Amino acid sequence: MSDSDLRRLYREQAPRAPEGRFSLDELMAGEGPIELDIGFGRGLSLFERAAVAPESRIIGIEVKTKLAYKVADRVKKHGLQNVTIFCGDAREILKRAEPSGSVERVSVHFPDPWWKKRHGKRRVIAEALLAELARLLGPGGQLFIQTDVEDRAEQYVAELREQPAFELASESGYVEENPFEARSNRERRAIEDGLPVWRIVATRR
Ligand SMILES: C[S@@+](CC[C@H](N)C(=O)[O-])C[C@H]1O[C@@H](n2cnc3c(N)ncnc32)[C@H](O)[C@@H]1O
Repeated sequence: MSDSDLRRLYREQAPRAPEGRFSLDELMAGEGPIELDIGFGRGLSLFERAAVAPESRIIGIEVKTKLAYKVADRVKKHGLQNVTIFCGDAREILKRAEPSGSVERVSVHFPDPWWKKRHGKRRVIAEALLAELARLLGPGGQLFIQTDVEDRAEQYVAELREQPAFELASESGYVEENPFEARSNRERRAIEDGLPVWRIVATRR
């Protein structure tokens, strides 16, 4: 297949969220906790999370069509019934998601490749996404963000301090360990390379 055929395949076949308002609760069978993994990249965190929390219903959202297509294909091949993949901008998809208060856990692993200042506006962890997450997380629900870019970590902590809906899990804002026992591809690489990782947990009040 030529590169342009492949690009078309990814664009046309990457799974999309339903149009209009839709229910997160009706995407997968069962009544297990609903979890979101935003910007899952190559998808390791989805597979590790599905293994440690088989009762959870996990929704992964990734904006890049190639990654969403390939990970969805692997999910299907592994027969994972508790993982659903959507391709698209998490901010747009989650605006349409219902019901409010239905989500228990959200992971955003290494969200920002554009860490230079001029790319600040494209940051995914910002007011718009945090407002949707505040709406979707139920009381006591947890938001986990991790990054290897120190000034971004500081920005996320500052942003969360501004949000009355969230309470940081520690005074500093940081925690030592990944609370959900599911590493992302970039986390695994950072650990292998001995690089520092800043991990932030906030609880929905
Ligand atoms: C630096 S990568 C990290 C990938 C993976 N989470 C990891 O830790 O290995 C950031 C990912 O977020 C995705 N992303 C960025 N903005 C997004 C958005 N608004 N909605 C969904 N995915 C997004 C990018 O396409 C990319 O795959």
